[in-house]
Amino acid sequence: MCGIVGYVGPKSCGDLLVDGLRRLEYRGYDSAGLAVHDGKEIRVVRSVGKLGNLVSALKERPLAGAPGIGHTRWATHGRPSETNAHPHVAGGIALVHNGIIENHLHLKRQLMEQGVKFSSDTDTEIVAHLVEREVRAGHKLLEAVRRALAVVEGAYAVAVLHKDEPDRIVIAKNASPLVIGLGEGETYCASDIPAILPYTRTMVLLEEGEIALLTAGGVEITTLKGERVDRKPKTITWNAAQAEKSGYKHFMLKEIHEQPRAIEDTMRGRIDLEKWDIIDSEIGIDAAAAADVKRVYFIACGTSFHASLFGRYLVESLSGLPATCELASELVVRDPVVGPGDLVVAVSQSGETIDTLAALKAAKDRGARILALANVLDSAIPRAAHGSLYTHAGPEIGVASTKCFTAQLAAMVLLAVYLGRRRNVLSTDRAREVLQGMLEVPHRMRDVLSQDDSLRDLARKFQHAKSFLFLGRGVSFPIAVEGALKLKEISYIHAEGYAAGEMKHGPIALIDENMPVVVVMPRDRTYEKTLSNLQEVKAREGRTLALATRGDAEVGAIADHVFYLPKVDAMLTPFITSLPLQLLAYYVADFKGTDVDQPRNLAKTVTVE
Ligand code: F6R
Repeated sequence: MCGIVGYVGPKSCGDLLVDGLRRLEYRGYDSAGLAVHDGKEIRVVRSVGKLGNLVSALKERPLAGAPGIGHTRWATHGRPSETNAHPHVAGGIALVHNGIIENHLHLKRQLMEQGVKFSSDTDTEIVAHLVEREVRAGHKLLEAVRRALAVVEGAYAVAVLHKDEPDRIVIAKNASPLVIGLGEGETYCASDIPAILPYTRTMVLLEEGEIALLTAGGVEITTLKGERVDRKPKTITWNAAQAEKSGYKHFMLKEIHEQPRAIEDTMRGRIDLEKWDIIDSEIGIDAAAAADVKRVYFIACGTSFHASLFGRYLVESLSGLPATCELASELVVRDPVVGPGDLVVAVSQSGETIDTLAALKAAKDRGARILALANVLDSAIPRAAHGSLYTHAGPEIGVASTKCFTAQLAAMVLLAVYLGRRRNVLSTDRAREVLQGMLEVPHRMRDVLSQDDSLRDLARKFQHAKSFLFLGRGVSFPIAVEGALKLKEISYIHAEGYAAGEMKHGPIALIDENMPVVVVMPRDRTYEKTLSNLQEVKAREGRTLALATRGDAEVGAIADHVFYLPKVDAMLTPFITSLPLQLLAYYVADFKGTDVDQPRNLAKTVTVE
């Protein structure tokens, strides 16, 4: 999730582009760069790290002129470095990109066979070379970009300059956002509204599969197939703070709603739809090593630990391997029996958690193979691991993890299917069921998120409770525990997550008419038993909220409140059941007026033991 900004008009645009990038830093910030046409040629300045580094580099090498494009990067392919920073240059072309090119390996191989030399490890540079090839073949920039994108599969928003056409920027989009801002004799573009809001409130949103020619006089939009598009500009009424959160009140709420996209991006380019398999190069452990694994050992903290609990179910069920799950801070204080034959999966959205890093080192010293599962490219945990499997959730700003959690769940499905296939224990039919189910998950998630209002109503009813209990069995157990953690983190209400079968062994003593009990009970093989637990809670006057599958009349007759969920494969219900619990926590906290995005005493990256 990178940030793009562009300007064409009479002003010298260096400072304006930096200003736009500053407003987009929340989209990612491991490197940044500008390309500006100075009237004769395109000049580029790039730097690694925060935007301040680019500002320093621009003091030494100022860029004057227009048009110009800028980019702030959140790495997905190729580590954060100056050579991997955008804009990427090929001949007279400079290009910035946000998204993931799925067929990058294939395209790169083709271009190399044609003699193209690459100077970065990015998928983006491939698109720059594709455009340049078309320009060399005699096409004008607009047509060249259209032709180049015809062979590109994946998600992208691109903005492109050409040395010989100094009055224009060409932009195009498929699945990654781009907005166009219309000024008086000047035109802007950006990944998101806040970047250009100080300059204009008149905006046109580019839609999927569209390409636009920006000049100082305005914009001409066509589809990638060449059909003309007439779209009326909108006037944006948000203030700057609202715009940064896309109009949501908090980053956490925005990130909850970004989950379908985070799952799509995490799966993008990794599934072979013909063989119903996972593409080898995408998992961080090669096929031979995968076939040799004897046990999978997840290590993690907090929310990542809850994702790992789900990972254990997946690995056992889909790969037939024994799997275990350990809190990183506990592993280091024992004499863990871990070593050769173990695949230790260190799960961490930040990739920097010191406890997880310490546990990783302990396991590595004992001879285990380490796979990092992280959201931040080239962070400490991936660097210390033998291989990495990245989630592509984009930067998460709310301290309480939401989209990184469900993206971790998605990565674990890919890993479990991969291990199952390489060990020849997972049939193509079952792999197809699971992967097809995964491809439908984002749609089912959107269905749940569209019922946001009814969760706010439920939260209003429960906001004054002093303590909550969350119950679930099987794959719903990790979700119950995670639901309790979300609630306590941001609303400061005490909450416990329990395996439903454990209720009778203790927590049942807590239940009375003041105690809300949230029961996660989609229709799966644990359903009947969990239904009995629900009855036990009701018999003790507990206030119940059940999450159940649509059409489940039995639950409706027992629970005080039911939130109905769309049906998905029984193994994949956590993607769906997580969402109402995140929204419940969010709205309870918002009613209480807590600092949702930065709850007290918590930090996004925990680098103390
Ligand atoms: C809770 C949360 C934390 C983190 C934990 C580990 O919402 O985000 O519990 O999951 O601190 O962090 P990572 O995943 O960065 O290792």
